[in-house]
Amino acid sequence: MGFRAMTLLAALAAMSLGHAASAADGDKPSSPRPGASDDVPAVDVPGERESASASGASDGLSKARLEYGAYLTLAGDCAACHTRPDGQPFEGGRALETPFGTIYTPNITPSKRRGIGDFSDEDFLRALHRGIGPDGKPYYPAFPYTSYTKVSADDVLAIKDYLFSLQPSDYRPPETELRWPFDVRDLLFGWQALYFAAGRLEPDPDKGEAWNRGAYLVEGLGHCGECHTPRNLAGASEPSEVLDGAVIDGWFAPNLTSDLNQGIGEWSVEALATYLRTGLDKPGDADGAPRTAAIGPMAEVVHDSLSKLALSDLRAIAVYLKDMPAAEAPAPRPSAAAEAPQAGGTLYQRYCSGCHQRYGQGIAPYFPALRGNPAVTLEQPDDVVEAILLGAPADPAEAYSEHVVMPSFGSILNDEEIAAVASFIRASWGNAAAPVAPDIVRELHKEP
Ligand code: HEC
Ligand code: HEC
Ligand code: HEC
Repeated sequence: MGFRAMTLLAALAAMSLGHAASAADGDKPSSPRPGASDDVPAVDVPGERESASASGASDGLSKARLEYGAYLTLAGDCAACHTRPDGQPFEGGRALETPFGTIYTPNITPSKRRGIGDFSDEDFLRALHRGIGPDGKPYYPAFPYTSYTKVSADDVLAIKDYLFSLQPSDYRPPETELRWPFDVRDLLFGWQALYFAAGRLEPDPDKGEAWNRGAYLVEGLGHCGECHTPRNLAGASEPSEVLDGAVIDGWFAPNLTSDLNQGIGEWSVEALATYLRTGLDKPGDADGAPRTAAIGPMAEVVHDSLSKLALSDLRAIAVYLKDMPAAEAPAPRPSAAAEAPQAGGTLYQRYCSGCHQRYGQGIAPYFPALRGNPAVTLEQPDDVVEAILLGAPADPAEAYSEHVVMPSFGSILNDEEIAAVASFIRASWGNAAAPVAPDIVRELHKEP
């Protein structure tokens, strides 16, 4: 497989991380979920099942084992991705949007027809530890097996035991249809070879028990880095940038390293644990209002997962995070207009660099360079904005490459973000054109 294909996959990986696009719209599955109560760590465990599964996995399993598996399933937030709005937990069908098409999560109930009822223990381990399905094909990294690979085999199998103790659902999620070449699963072998290191997390003997427990939860089941680490830069995380903060679905997932300005350095372990449990920072000084509230994708993580974990585990996570070496975030929160150039750069790395490359150099003959491209630096920015809004080319007959078109970002980025990213490409890598005001984008966006 060629370098280009791998670059494409890097782009795919980057764009498939945003699983929490609808977190803020209150689109919660309405059916009861395990652990719906606020008591920690309360989980509903079904009683005896009438029939044993193929592998007999839950045959004679103790209630304690199933409770343990249910708890780990919460820590892994499996239901969040594997439940569609108003669907039964774990029956799949949640749409994960990427500019290359929509990935639908599979049904992971023990249904033999539609779910994972035929998975052996080995199949399940291979899926979570190696990202490979029973048919030998790799999974898209939208399934965070890059994190779950760090979870112990016994814990992974406890999750399986729990899932196999639930009612099977025969719901069939819609087919995932990605644009060429992202639909070619075999190319993912190349991506895995480059960017994926399978292996369990080994405890650090120099650190305490809480630290190690925190590391296990953050790096493994919690898959915090899927959102908080800017993996898009190379399609996988750059070690120096781990947990430095990243843009996800237009939200900035803040720096979680102990940087005093941008990170969580000034939070106490207790405040951090409180935030993870409630989504609220401790009450502020003056008016008692919290300084920070999780309202975006993090709100869903708190609601579905963290708020249901034991306080000791949340403290462990806090202890681990507080101990991470300080690092600079790549960019501040992309909200205020004054921050636009930097925010534009972060958006560029996330949404554009997979194709146009990190320094705007493009890849001939597939993706045009944006650096030194006169079309990008025209005094009138309308064409650049149109290209981002509508995708390019408008007429497929005029395509730069016969295979690849640029997706439309009009429904993925808001007007401010499009203005920010347009301003960024017009003023980077030697390009020197004036910034684009959000008003211009707003006007063009209105036109049919
Ligand atoms: C960020 C979203 C996300 C989370 C969280 C997530 N998954 Fe998935 N999972 C996916 C996607 C997407 C796929 C399908 C990947 C593909 O089609 O290549 C998948 C596939 C799977 C499969 C393979 C199913 C099959 O039919 O081949 C299993 C098993 C699975 N997930 C189990 C889990 C478990 C267990 C957890 C929690 C520990 C979990 N997932 C958490 C997104 C997620
Ligand atoms: C689905 C993506 C996603 C995942 C997974 C995720 N986070 Fe977040 N996190 C965010 C986003 C986005 C924000 C900020 C905006 C918001 O409120 O949603 C945030 C905010 C935070 C904050 C507040 C930081 C501040 O300075 O305000 C903390 C602490 C945090 N996350 C910890 C974690 C931990 C620990 C995990 C893993 C157990 C985790 N997050 C997993 C997306 C995510
Ligand atoms: C899937 C790959 C892909 C992604 C992602 C992508 N582009 Fe493109 N882009 C292309 C291709 C291919 C073309 C050339 C289309 C054509 O005219 O044939 C293009 C053209 C352009 C052009 C017009 C250049 C010219 O010479 O007219 C601009 C400007 C542009 N892209 C900016 C962006 C920005 C900004 C982003 C991120 C928000 C982005 N692109 C994301 C593939 C991509």
